[in-house]
Amino acid sequence: MSELTEEIAKRRTFAIISHPDAGKTTLTEKLLLFGGAIHVAGAVKSNKIKKTATSYWMEIEKQRGISVATSVMGFNYNNYKINILDTPGHQDFAEDTFRTLTAVDSVIIVVDIAKGVEAQTRRLMEVCRMRKTPVIVFVNKLDRDGKDPFDLLDELEEELKINVRPLSWPIDMGQRFKGVYNIFDKKLDLYTPSKQYVTESVEFKDINSPELETHIGDHLAEKLRSDIELIEGVYPEFETETYLKGEIAPVFFGSALNNFGVKELLDCFVKIAPSPRPIQAVERIVTPTEDKFTGFVFKIHANMDPNHRSCIAFVKICSGRFERNANYKHVRHGKMFRYSSPTAFMAQKKETVDEAFAGDIIGIPDTGNFKIGDTLTEGEELHFKGLPSFSPEMFKYIENSDPMKTKQLNKGIDQLMDEGVAQLFINQFNGRKIIGTVGQLQFEVIQYRLLHEYGAQCKWEPLNLYKACWIESDDEAELENFKRRKAQYMAKDKEGRDVYLADSSYVLQMAQHDFEKIRFHFSSEF
Ligand code: G4P
Repeated sequence: MSELTEEIAKRRTFAIISHPDAGKTTLTEKLLLFGGAIHVAGAVKSNKIKKTATSYWMEIEKQRGISVATSVMGFNYNNYKINILDTPGHQDFAEDTFRTLTAVDSVIIVVDIAKGVEAQTRRLMEVCRMRKTPVIVFVNKLDRDGKDPFDLLDELEEELKINVRPLSWPIDMGQRFKGVYNIFDKKLDLYTPSKQYVTESVEFKDINSPELETHIGDHLAEKLRSDIELIEGVYPEFETETYLKGEIAPVFFGSALNNFGVKELLDCFVKIAPSPRPIQAVERIVTPTEDKFTGFVFKIHANMDPNHRSCIAFVKICSGRFERNANYKHVRHGKMFRYSSPTAFMAQKKETVDEAFAGDIIGIPDTGNFKIGDTLTEGEELHFKGLPSFSPEMFKYIENSDPMKTKQLNKGIDQLMDEGVAQLFINQFNGRKIIGTVGQLQFEVIQYRLLHEYGAQCKWEPLNLYKACWIESDDEAELENFKRRKAQYMAKDKEGRDVYLADSSYVLQMAQHDFEKIRFHFSSEF
């Protein structure tokens, strides 16, 4: 194996996703502890906005400080190089999370045993399904009482629309939680609440051995055997291949807070999770082990210093080796650039790196050259397909409140949209700018950042819209007819594509009914 192939095979780049409070931060921290990346619990700052925050934007500013450091957490474990990509906890920043998912090769979903599948997990899973991202589920908080594990598996299948296969199985829960049987490694991991880690791990090739009784007692032994029999009967044999295709999700049980089941998860994860996967660009499929470097920007993080607007562009390396000071082509600009201070994120520290490999994420300091989705290559005309924009949930007109600062406002809006903070539409009827978001908080962030970073003041005007639909048709005349009829509701997105702004679900249904030759899309890529 060449050095390049060897380096790439070692990499595991993934994200942990969950509904807020399921235990994502806790699990991340425990994984970092195993990797030796941190030494004390509590070192990972929760990247979530506390519900009690009185002033959202102060919290946001704090967040932005924290989240540069924790955006990517790299560490070595055994012979693997692990990159965990952090995702924002607050649902109003779900778009950010969607984009981060374009840069990972697999995902771990954390689910609370008591709460089961929650709203945000469902939405994030949709994106994973779309991209066929391999998914592992970690059912957390087994030290508390919760749902019956079989019911939970059914719920996972139903709600996440994916087949599941338990690879570990809990022995009771809550106060009576005894541990888990590790189906993958055929081991019995016993739990002692006061110790907060796996106190005893016993090889258990044959679950019918009477030794089981000595560890967990007659009643639980009998229950475990019948549970395992049921699992073997109902769920298909676990095959890594089907997991890698995104068709089946292995499920683990444990307690992140008590560090129980976490090492088992990690050990199995490094074995079965994919190393960097081939990525479909518009022109061709790019294989990670190709000699030539390619990569794309999936996230842009603005710095907090309002005096000089500098950003960090996060680049996922898709193939080859990135070298500091080499010349790379910024495909959208059609120009070659040198990057002299790329940073890598190891053990929560940012440090300049000389080289990085496919699967790694690097941060490139930037002063406005990059947009989300930009591709870098050694010269090839290549365009990585980003994630489509989805129809926003909330819309408002953005208005200038300080006529002296029109230029600043326009520049600010442009750059914030390039950063992917929200979506901009221009109403073709009245020429007004509309900002679409997934939550109220994004409007506050935009207003705050326009003022502090660009000196521009904006105000919002309410706009009652239901959905933005990207429209197309093979029948040019019909398309023109539609646009004429709906002139007041036609807009262009940032790329100049036609968007129909439906003000209610009824109106949308009528439009779909009346204009059969028009295709209505709820995301921008079709
Ligand atoms: P998140 O990032 O997914 O939002 O969740 P986070 O890890 O912050 O965990 C949410 C809460 O759940 C935290 O409690 C955390 O201590 C707790 N938790 C995580 N894993 C387990 C577990 O295995 N068992 C139990 N019983 N609790 C768990 P908190 O009180 O909200 O925060 P904190 O004050 O402890 O930080």
